[in-house]
Amino acid sequence: MERPRYSRVDGCLRTVSSQLENIMEMVKLKTGCEDVQKKLQETLDLATTIEPYCVTKSTHLSPFLSSILEHTVAMDFKQLYQAGKLEHNFKHGDSSQSMISFSGQVQFLQFLVRKIKAKNILEIGTFMGYAAFGMAEAMAPGGSVTGIDIEPLFCDFVNELAVQKDINIEVMNGDALQILKQLAEADIKYDVIYIDCVKRDYYEYYKIIMSNEMLSSDGLIVCDRVILGGASISRKNHDGVALDNFSNRLLNDQRVTTVLLPCFDGTLLIQNRS
Ligand SMILES: C[S@@+](CC[C@H](N)C(=O)[O-])C[C@H]1O[C@@H](n2cnc3c(N)ncnc32)[C@H](O)[C@@H]1O
Repeated sequence: MERPRYSRVDGCLRTVSSQLENIMEMVKLKTGCEDVQKKLQETLDLATTIEPYCVTKSTHLSPFLSSILEHTVAMDFKQLYQAGKLEHNFKHGDSSQSMISFSGQVQFLQFLVRKIKAKNILEIGTFMGYAAFGMAEAMAPGGSVTGIDIEPLFCDFVNELAVQKDINIEVMNGDALQILKQLAEADIKYDVIYIDCVKRDYYEYYKIIMSNEMLSSDGLIVCDRVILGGASISRKNHDGVALDNFSNRLLNDQRVTTVLLPCFDGTLLIQNRS
């Protein structure tokens, strides 16, 4: 199968694929294991093609969104930081390719936004606007997307592009917890809230949203990468523990129902129970 140009194997599937690759290397050194090698290769092929396959078999994203993706993956954070253009020095192996939303996730968001005829949309962690512009394309007439991001370069890029294209998106610059508190005072109800920001703060974002009734009665909160490459299941690091605790806390919260989908590294959907 031909892969979409920037499709990536990430999250849990990347963990599975790299472990399979390691086993493959070990098996290659042994003679008489050709049948095991063949089976391993088939499994590896499956793990690395499921997501690209789904992207190609779902309604395709617009050429405009593809151009944002191309522009974003070409960015070199290290170079931009050294040139003084980025305020934040993104670490932990963060790259523009690893930070941008999965294409399949944007297709999924567009599907949801269209289905519930969302008008007021909030995105916590906007980056270069791949999901924000994607949701804006699918929102109901007269709708708007409010984004939040800590990095001025990303906010400027999205805000300028939105003005240029006459698309109703505004990204607010600052720390998500502070901006969310400000937005809470504006008394707006959001139909879709996409959380794609600091993993350790997911529960804090959720608490602000719920205690200020920021979600419309039929609205949805969509949380990205809640499985975090398996770290939440194994609780192997701080972010994994925080995300696992987050899902557990929601189970005990009678105001909402949730579903954690095993795609795109774990997409958690939250809706009001009533
Ligand atoms: C995974 S990226 C978001 C990807 C984006 N949703 C997309 O569609 O491509 C996370 C974003 O959160 C931003 N961020 C990190 N820490 C933040 C904070 N404390 N407050 C607000 N934004 C933050 C980063 O600058 C980055 O752009």
